[in-house]
Amino acid sequence: MPAKRKSIHGEWSSRLAFILAATGSAVGLGNIWRFPYVAGENGGGAFVLVYLLCVASVGIPVMMAEVMLGRRGRQSPVNTMSTLAEEERSSTHWQYLGLMGMVAGFLILSFYSVVAGWTMAYVFRVASGVFDGATAEQVSGAFTVFVSDPERLLGWHTIFMIMTIIVVSRGVKSGLEQAVRFLMPTLFVLLVAMVGYAISTGHFSEALAYLFRPDFSRLTGESILAALGQAFFSLSLGMGAIMIYGSYLSHTASIPRTAVIIAAMDTSVALLAGLAIFPIVFANGLEPELGSGMVFKVLPIAFGQMPGGTLFGTLFFLLLVFAAWTSAISLLEPMVTWLVENRGMNRVMAAAWSGLAAWSVGVISLLSLNVWSGYTLFGKSFIELVEFIATNVMLPMGGLLVAVFAAWVMSRESSQDELHLSGSTYRMWRVLARYVAPVAVAVILLTATGIL
Ligand code: PHE
Repeated sequence: MPAKRKSIHGEWSSRLAFILAATGSAVGLGNIWRFPYVAGENGGGAFVLVYLLCVASVGIPVMMAEVMLGRRGRQSPVNTMSTLAEEERSSTHWQYLGLMGMVAGFLILSFYSVVAGWTMAYVFRVASGVFDGATAEQVSGAFTVFVSDPERLLGWHTIFMIMTIIVVSRGVKSGLEQAVRFLMPTLFVLLVAMVGYAISTGHFSEALAYLFRPDFSRLTGESILAALGQAFFSLSLGMGAIMIYGSYLSHTASIPRTAVIIAAMDTSVALLAGLAIFPIVFANGLEPELGSGMVFKVLPIAFGQMPGGTLFGTLFFLLLVFAAWTSAISLLEPMVTWLVENRGMNRVMAAAWSGLAAWSVGVISLLSLNVWSGYTLFGKSFIELVEFIATNVMLPMGGLLVAVFAAWVMSRESSQDELHLSGSTYRMWRVLARYVAPVAVAVILLTATGIL
């Protein structure tokens, strides 16, 4: 048995610190911006059901695998994979799995920062009171005008990326813990209050039916893939974020319990967001297919109508910015640790260069929303294409390979030693990671691409 490694980048102060940081990574725009709009585009109930199945049967086992690999390898995902592969006498080509994850994280960060920029802009817009008493049409119109202005988008995108670079360049451990400890519960309470408001619109049961009564005729290969991709995106899996956070986790912490807690919190935030948004959609006679502007077209209507809505809405978008920030940090971290380990860069330079590169790709994305919106490939604009490839292709493939490595390449002794699981729970994980997760991901990918 090799001696337990130590990370050169440090360790979390406790298991709770890891849970908080990983939850900070998981809970973000994926839950509040992405989940409702993707659910709306894919017909609601059946999509939600497949999404929940994916979280439970693929997401949780893959999350356990990622944390386990990270903690055992204790380096950037690229080097963790090559070290562990060597240890298990397998090919060092496994490092390309780390590399693909890094690229996926880079691509996600590029558009994530653009959308986080929208959220920042909305903090000020809601605060200014422009939505007071605004109709659904006015709110939608305001969003359309907003995204057609590249200069504004550029400003916010730049500010958000700089905020992310600053935290990562200082090392993710300081500050993240306290921030998440305070932010997540507050965001949760605000969401519950929003659901309360949504109930008062009188369209809550319609929303419940839409989200939880599956209409299987709406299920296509593509919507199943969208549900799988959303599960990976929301849980921060398949690109090394959870792996790198796992690499700072102490050896005594229990991985399975931790993974279940994180997945449960992440999923409840997404469902609450859905329950807050859809009643407002139906109450205002809107269609669920509102696209990626959904939260920005829907929530301000409610903030403009409810008592104290300006203050409440400002706080809501502000918290969403923070939630996005703690996620963006984890998107940049794998790349930065790799540059520090392999290129001998210091953290500040590594964070600045990789952030700048992601920012540049983000600029193309934000221009594709307006001046370059005419250029499309497979009917998708640049930002949609990057979001699709990274989320629905790269993350599931990354997750599949993580599961294969953890449950097929790694010896039973190694994984059992790291997971501290015995008997039936270990066997359950192994069956999920060996068969269920890889087969489900492979079948869904192949069906959606028309190969199967
Ligand atoms: N999980 C984050 C969210 O839901 C996004 C993310 C994806 C973060 C992948 C890290 C890795 O907003």
